[in-house]
Amino acid sequence: MSNATKTAALFPAPEKIPQAFRIAQSVEQKEYLVGGEICFWHGPCEEVHSPVCLATGSGLEETRIGSYPLLTEEEALAALTAACRAYDHGRGRWPTMAVEDRIRHLEDFAYRMKEKRDEVIRLLMWEIGKSLADSGKEFDRTVDYILDTIDALKDLDRAGSRFVIDQGVIGQIRRAPLGVVLCMGPFNYPLNETFTTLIPALIMGNTVIFKPPKHGVLLHRPLLEAFRDSFPPGVVNTVYGDGATVVGPLIKSAKIDVLAFIGTSRVGDLLKKQHPKPHRLRCVLGLEAKNPAIILADADLDLTVRECVLGALSYNGQRCTALKLLFVHSSIAEAFLDKLGAAVEALTPGMPWEEGVQITPLPERGKTAYLSELIEDARKQGAAVVNASGGLVNRTFMFPAVLYPVTPEMRIFKEEQFGPLVPVVFYDDIEEPLRYVTESDYGQQVSIFGTDPELIAALIDPLVNQVCRVNINSQCQRGPDTFPFTGRKDSAEGTLSVSDALRVFSIRTMVAAKETDLNKQIITTVTRHRKSRFLSTNFLL
Ligand code: G3H
Repeated sequence: MSNATKTAALFPAPEKIPQAFRIAQSVEQKEYLVGGEICFWHGPCEEVHSPVCLATGSGLEETRIGSYPLLTEEEALAALTAACRAYDHGRGRWPTMAVEDRIRHLEDFAYRMKEKRDEVIRLLMWEIGKSLADSGKEFDRTVDYILDTIDALKDLDRAGSRFVIDQGVIGQIRRAPLGVVLCMGPFNYPLNETFTTLIPALIMGNTVIFKPPKHGVLLHRPLLEAFRDSFPPGVVNTVYGDGATVVGPLIKSAKIDVLAFIGTSRVGDLLKKQHPKPHRLRCVLGLEAKNPAIILADADLDLTVRECVLGALSYNGQRCTALKLLFVHSSIAEAFLDKLGAAVEALTPGMPWEEGVQITPLPERGKTAYLSELIEDARKQGAAVVNASGGLVNRTFMFPAVLYPVTPEMRIFKEEQFGPLVPVVFYDDIEEPLRYVTESDYGQQVSIFGTDPELIAALIDPLVNQVCRVNINSQCQRGPDTFPFTGRKDSAEGTLSVSDALRVFSIRTMVAAKETDLNKQIITTVTRHRKSRFLSTNFLL
């Protein structure tokens, strides 16, 4: 079957959807979690439509899969009050709890979370169109992240359980929580990227308000009871609804101590500016990127094409780390384009639950129209779509398009497409891609493809001062999660990794005393009789 036919017949009739993947009943979420209680909302709700349409007798229809509360400022501020009360200026039960006890709460949560795997994965597929395989990976990676975070915290705590003596001063240095954290994740990894901030924030003793992204709300619903039952009241609170309505008042209150936000720099800036005392707001931001691949004349073409297809089109290109511009040396441009076009043309479109599916419908409203505009703009300025099916649209679905030759005047050269478009630029002088990286507003990662160690080495040194990860013959990516994930310029603020995140959500704090007999005796008594949780030599096993 041709891709054109596959695209036209992409959406299934309801009865063709395997039983195991159907949404038996729409998810009409009315609940939100505040102060340890699941509250019911009686006001207006936001309708949730799936990017997966259904073929009916009267044509294609949007699939309504549920709704969630459009909370107001009042409920958002109630969540804030609950989080502040649970933190209680650092004197609450959670921030003062022994680390091993906090770990037990997290383990309990991870256990309960695993029980909801199928439900969450099904909602991931329907809400954001992520394939079954990738949705499963996102869930499992998140559970692993929780377990790895627990291990990293044990290491950190062990290091803090000893005393330092220097220049006649005895000190015990540990990391203490910061206060109330607002966590906001992105739609492309609504579970994983929200939890990569939420979990370290919690385990370090902060209390949290979390707002799911616009797409990817309902998949958190199955976890609400686990949050309620695994943590003391007010430690985890949820808000839903329009960002300006519910998030603005939180930031303006000056009671949010840390903003963990993954999204666009425009929204990140907007949020930061609303804080009355911006210096009090610690931020960790994962923002946009336009990671380029630089393909050298001696690159192994098969390997390069394989990595570029993965890098540019995994989850339809909707990854901040995706390869969004390919610079190819003009001497191999034709051979590269032939192979790339063929590989893209061979990708399997379909429904998220279908085995082997690689390209699926897109959740953002108006996205295929936006991507078509980018193609049109590039065409008008002299580019062509290399692969026969590139740019074919059926409602929320677009077949990936390889565009060539892309030039700096075209919108696709600068705009972050965040979708299945693969723009190819050719270059003769290596200074051309280097200039692109230098002049770009983004600074997350780059991939270099080539076989000559000398040529690659000559690129590494200028590039490491422009981006934060240079990948050799490998696509750009965030993982493994123990590696630092960050960026320069408009791409990030702060660094996340399993161990870095523990530092982001805490501050080094110490107890110090001049080394006198009296002070030695006090410290010995306090530690020997375990009078303090902070000033303690207790060693976590
Ligand atoms: O959207 C950005 C994600 O952090 C990318 O993560 O490279 O593991 O897909 P990934």
